[in-house]
Amino acid sequence: MSVREEFDDWAADGRDKGMEDRHWNTAKNVLARMPVEEGDTVLDLGTGSGYAVRALRETKGAGRAYGLDGSPEMARNATGYTDDPRVGFLVGDFDHLPFADDSVDHVFTMEAFYYANEPHEALREIARVLRPGGTLFCAVNYYEENVHSHAWQDNIEVEMTRWSAREYREAFREAGLHVAEQDNVPDRDTEIPDESEFPTENWDSRDAMVERYREFGTLLTVGVAR
Ligand SMILES: C[S@@+](CC[C@H](N)C(=O)[O-])C[C@H]1O[C@@H](n2cnc3c(N)ncnc32)[C@H](O)[C@@H]1O
Repeated sequence: MSVREEFDDWAADGRDKGMEDRHWNTAKNVLARMPVEEGDTVLDLGTGSGYAVRALRETKGAGRAYGLDGSPEMARNATGYTDDPRVGFLVGDFDHLPFADDSVDHVFTMEAFYYANEPHEALREIARVLRPGGTLFCAVNYYEENVHSHAWQDNIEVEMTRWSAREYREAFREAGLHVAEQDNVPDRDTEIPDESEFPTENWDSRDAMVERYREFGTLLTVGVAR
């Protein structure tokens, strides 16, 4: 199944907003760390509901904020959630970014990068469109060290790339990006029930749930363009 078929369905049944609610718990902390300055051009890859571009306009004063998504329905929904004339949504693929060389100040991507058909090519594309000194904030919950995420591929037909933290760093460097930092951003907002309530429908033990949300959280890799 293509990205378009899979995620058009998600957009049609409201899962874009559901993802926004879940991902915001860590995405808000990642966005706060981005060194976006007034007037900067920012790009969100795999934008879903477009919450990140709205936030970067509202909290950081980005001059232009673009959200790109492979699903036309996601882009259509996202367009409907804002009337900001400096926000734009595009349908496109990570492997062929419709932006000129050195034209973007900062790139954000949350829970989307691992769907790239050619992740190495996607990183080269990001390095190409970023201005020297521009940053890539790449946030993923699906990655090798997060053992709680491994089964996610069973529920989705689009092929997902499961890299380790080290593989992310190596791939960034191969694409010509300096790795400025890499860490786990904990989700402190997802409610974890009291010990007596385990096992729950989704979790065998409280320890496992704590590990997933409070320890592993979101893997963030920050790249800087040369
Ligand atoms: C799991 S959702 C995450 C959406 C949003 N970033 C969030 O945090 O809620 C992944 C999004 O990436 C998009 N996507 C996946 N692969 C893509 C690709 N190769 N090119 C462009 N968009 C893609 C999907 O259509 C979907 O909207």
